[in-house]
Amino acid sequence: MTIPLTERTWPTGFLWGSATAAAQIEGAAHEGGKEDSIWDAYSRVPGAVANGDTPEQAVDHYHRVPSDVAMMKDLGLDSYRFSTSWARVVPGGRSVNQEGLDFYSSLVDELLGQGILPWLTLYHWDLPQALQEKGGWANRETAYRFVEYAEAVYGALGDRVTHWTTFNEPLCSSLIGYVAGEHAPGLTDPDAGLAALHHQHLAHGLAAARLRELAARDGRELQIGITLNLTNAVPNDPTDPVDLEAARRIDGLWNRMYIEPLLLGEYPVDVIGDLEEYDFLQYVQGGDLAVISTPIDFLGVNHYHDDNVSGHPAAPDAEPGLVPTEKPGRSPFVGSEYVTFPTRHLPRTAMGWEVNPDGLRTLLVRLGREYPTLPPLYITENGASYDDEIIDGAVNDTERWAYIDAHISAVGEAIAAGADVRGYFVWSLLDNYEWAWGYNKRFGIVHVDYDTLVRTPKFSATQYASVIAASKATA
Ligand code: NOJ
Repeated sequence: MTIPLTERTWPTGFLWGSATAAAQIEGAAHEGGKEDSIWDAYSRVPGAVANGDTPEQAVDHYHRVPSDVAMMKDLGLDSYRFSTSWARVVPGGRSVNQEGLDFYSSLVDELLGQGILPWLTLYHWDLPQALQEKGGWANRETAYRFVEYAEAVYGALGDRVTHWTTFNEPLCSSLIGYVAGEHAPGLTDPDAGLAALHHQHLAHGLAAARLRELAARDGRELQIGITLNLTNAVPNDPTDPVDLEAARRIDGLWNRMYIEPLLLGEYPVDVIGDLEEYDFLQYVQGGDLAVISTPIDFLGVNHYHDDNVSGHPAAPDAEPGLVPTEKPGRSPFVGSEYVTFPTRHLPRTAMGWEVNPDGLRTLLVRLGREYPTLPPLYITENGASYDDEIIDGAVNDTERWAYIDAHISAVGEAIAAGADVRGYFVWSLLDNYEWAWGYNKRFGIVHVDYDTLVRTPKFSATQYASVIAASKATA
């Protein structure tokens, strides 16, 4: 029997939030001492981003902090997940820009003033372009620069911010940016992608350990974690060994290469084997895995959809995959195998992503079973893009709300089945810059008019606010 969301009870202290990222909302891309990030530079490459959209102005959050935070307060959010922009804090990669730190300091004060817990992410994909010019994440040195950047942010905010996330979705900022070329820096270089993958893990571990050390010195308690985008790689035909093998490879490359070094202190042996011709282990130095597996207090899970995987050539209606392809239907990382993503008969969002809330329940329950050392989980992103229309000043986004409602229910069911989930952040607070899709894809529960920058809470925002309010009443 489905329990209406407003009647569900939630674990004590369950956090309700919404999430954004610096490059997607701030704008002021060249103000306040900020210099180019890789997304500023990449967005200027002809054809890289839909419509040639850039993060230059985004939704101008940089100039609208008090009113944006007041809106969060109206929604009743417990927490706000945002990212600091490395290119604002350390624009050239070395010297700290005080004005950048001051901006985040006033954001944090504003949040705390409204009783909203700041949930800070250090890396949501916007590397300073100056560091990209030195090889970016393919260069091990970038991991050490990241620690310096983390120290600078801690120095300014460590007295008030308790929840720290090192990376957001490293799969996207490594393989998708360096191999698939679909995100900045837009490379199609398997070796650079694998080096980036390892160096981001290393940067996570080094920064987590350093933050822990600084907090101990200062007598502070921090909660330190990382956010991964995790999926269920579902074999299209579970009785077909070819599909099972393709699903194993995708699960390995997209999930296990990220979660296992963190939780188990080792890369999955089968994936290292799949990558034999790239000699992945050349990037891993003695002691790295001990650093990478430095204990974390929580794991952030971003989840939007499952992936239905086949090892057979694409049917005419197959989805193009995120697997880096060198020849249509093949990937440098899947050997001679095909990996395709056949369409299932499920509703889809405007991104073309399947709507299948049960996938989220399955994922959360499965993680706890598969990884006995799993820390508490937070859903740090979940949400949906639809083609909204503003009619008579209102956006009646019933499809988005149906998606969010069903996914929050799935979280409730996972908790009932034993998953230790402590919070849910909807993606996103505001319509924003959806990376290579530009401003075409709207994920906000608050509509933004890109000409006037006026914010209008959608139907989903009012519904979400009611769920939060009801959860407090039933607590
Ligand atoms: C994950 C990313 O973290 C976020 O930046 C992006 O906008 C959403 N997914 C939607 O694609």
